[in-house]
Amino acid sequence: MKRITVAIDGYSSSGKSTMARQLAGSVGYRYIDSGAMYRAVALYALDHGMIGPEGTVDEEKLVAALPDIHIDFAPGATAGEHQHTLLNGQDVETEIRRLRVSNVVSPVAAIGAVRRALVLQQQAMGREGGIVMDGRDIGTTVFPNAELKIFVNASAETRAQRRFKEMTDGGSQVSYADVLANVVHRDHIDETREESPLRRADDALELDNSTMTPEEQDAWLMAAFKAATQED
Ligand code: DC
Repeated sequence: MKRITVAIDGYSSSGKSTMARQLAGSVGYRYIDSGAMYRAVALYALDHGMIGPEGTVDEEKLVAALPDIHIDFAPGATAGEHQHTLLNGQDVETEIRRLRVSNVVSPVAAIGAVRRALVLQQQAMGREGGIVMDGRDIGTTVFPNAELKIFVNASAETRAQRRFKEMTDGGSQVSYADVLANVVHRDHIDETREESPLRRADDALELDNSTMTPEEQDAWLMAAFKAATQED
C-alpha cells in the first residue's frame, strides 16, 4: 500500500499533536511536530539575546543566525513516548514547552525567512511519504498535495483548559487567565500574519473535537485515514 502524507493543521492546543502522534504510531508512519521546530528557533533567539524586553524580535540577527540553527528529532525512549526535539544536538523538549517560549514563538514564526527555512526542512522530511506532520500551514504550504488533510478546531476556552492542565501537571506555576490570554493572542497572530496564515485548506476535512472523547476522535481519524489510502 502506498505510504501517504498526512497533514494535520489547527489552532494551538487543539489536540492536533496528540492526534497526529497517535495516528503515526497506529499506522507505522513518522511523526513530525512542526510547531516544535518554530519553538526551537524561538528558544535559540531567546538564549542568544535576540528578543527584547517587550518581546520584539531582532529579525536581522535571527535571520543571519539561521544557518547555525540545526533542528532534529530523536525518538522517545519508549514506544508512544513523545519524540524529543534537538537544537544543535541538545535535547530541548522540556524547555521549548515553557511559557517563556510560548510567549515569543508567534512573532518568530511570523518571520518570512524563518518560515522558508523550516518549510524546506519539513518538505525534505516528507519526501518519501509515510509521514504525519502537524502544524498551521502543512496542508496549505508544506504539503499542498497531501493525500489526507485534517483541520482541527476547538473553542479557545477548551484549548486553554487543556494547555493549563498540561502545564500544571508538568509542574509549571501558571494561571488559567494567563494561559487563555496566550492562546487568544497566538490565534490572532497566527491567523493574521502575512506569510502562510493559519487557515483551513479548501480540501481539508474539518474536525471540531471540543466534545469528542479520545476514542471517538481515534475512530474518526482511522476512518479518514482508511478512506484516504483506499482512494489511491
Ligand atoms: O503548535 P504549537 O503551539 O507548538 O506551535 C508553536 C507556534 O509555532 C505557534 O505560534 C504557531 C507556530 N507554527 C507555525 O506558524 N507553523 C507551523 N507549521 C507550526 C507552528
